[in-house]
Amino acid sequence: MSEKKFYIETYGCQMNFSDSEIIASVMKEADFDSTTDVKEADGIFVNTCSIREHAEQRVRKRLSELKSFKKKKPHLLIGVLGCMAERLKDQLLIDEKSVDIIVGPDAYRDLPKLINTANEGQKAINVILSADETYADINPVRLGSNGVSAFISIMRGCENFCAYCVVPYTRGKERSRNPGTILNEARELFESGFREITFLGQNVNSYKWEGENKDFDFPYLLEKAALINPLLRIRFATSHPKDLSDELLKIIAAHPNICRSVHLPVQSGSSKILKLMNRKYTREWYMERIEAIRKYIPGCAISTDIICGFSGETDDDHHDTLSLMEWAKFDYAYMFKYSERPGTAAAGKYKDDVPEEVKSRRLQEVIELQQKLSHKSNKRDVGKTFEVLVENESRKSKDFLSGRNSQNKVVIFPRKNFKAGDYVNVNVLRCTAATLIGDDAESFYM
Ligand code: 5AD
Ligand code: SF4
Repeated sequence: MSEKKFYIETYGCQMNFSDSEIIASVMKEADFDSTTDVKEADGIFVNTCSIREHAEQRVRKRLSELKSFKKKKPHLLIGVLGCMAERLKDQLLIDEKSVDIIVGPDAYRDLPKLINTANEGQKAINVILSADETYADINPVRLGSNGVSAFISIMRGCENFCAYCVVPYTRGKERSRNPGTILNEARELFESGFREITFLGQNVNSYKWEGENKDFDFPYLLEKAALINPLLRIRFATSHPKDLSDELLKIIAAHPNICRSVHLPVQSGSSKILKLMNRKYTREWYMERIEAIRKYIPGCAISTDIICGFSGETDDDHHDTLSLMEWAKFDYAYMFKYSERPGTAAAGKYKDDVPEEVKSRRLQEVIELQQKLSHKSNKRDVGKTFEVLVENESRKSKDFLSGRNSQNKVVIFPRKNFKAGDYVNVNVLRCTAATLIGDDAESFYM
């Protein structure tokens, strides 16, 4: 059977990219080969996202393109995996006639069986959510890897129920993965040459594993990972402001290989909107957490997520968001227009009452401000020296390499004899809004 090939295409968050690596491993166990050429595939899997309507529309468009592949190759199977599969369930089979298989985020182990069913000519679906599936024993196949950085999923699901968010419904109950399996995966990655791991979860700070005699929390896991080797960098995403503890910040401060970069989604700068969003913190609480990061970890980069035009957002609320951004001096931000998702608390309780053109204008203002803040943040780095982990060749020139500093900023510098996986001290000579550009000061840890 090993001549059967599957192709996987991933939309959405880092967690989804990490899930695709788990899916690839399940498929490999079932004797399928992966291919990066969609034309030679016997199965095409689309790992989907439901976070905003636009994400779903992109997938729908792709599915209609894939229909033509099926005309040319009748035995071709098309599978919809992930959050959209979970949200829409068998409705997707009705809407999208070319789809054969529907698999939710907790049912990937069932894929080979579902493929058999589909090969027999029946539609196959498994969207059962689990209270304990963490795929802990699955060794992910590193797809499209640069051999330097890898994701490790440490928990799944979410029970925060932010009013706007579909994730608790598509990814189910929050559960953490056995710490032993996480640390083994990290060690193995280091031994096979990887130099950076990112711990992933919808809310990594609430990681909790109940051991026989004691419980293990996120600071514990982070510290143990940092102790694997000083040359292994550790990152994590995403944190919820309500659970970002001083203890965690102290652990980061104590280990130079835990990266100086915290992603802390604020969503809105208005306490009124935060309450409607069920974020469980206020503007003041968030500001206090930013001050704590700056106190414990000087030089730490802080990035965020912002939603513009949530239900009930007035111009005053929007200005609260802009003023918070100015105050926090975010180094980077992901910015979105509010998209009402069916089935969420906000869709049930509130009217999506900010007109589209107002949402667009506010988003534009937020983006313009963030560009200024990012550029200013980069300008503050000119003249400084950073330890950069080399990832790959610069996209613009073979003579330059691209890597990241601990703050997660992209740094470009002359290639010389450096290669992916090296740590290089780089003097920053100039910058753009998105990139630092420098020359190496010295190389080390070759
Ligand atoms: N509309 C717009 N943005 C959303 N996000 C989550 N749900 C929605 C929604 N319904 C954003 C949040 C979150 C990020 C992953 O996506 O900012 O942090
Ligand atoms: Fe990731 Fe959320 Fe999109 Fe699912 S809905 S893929 S959890 S961003």
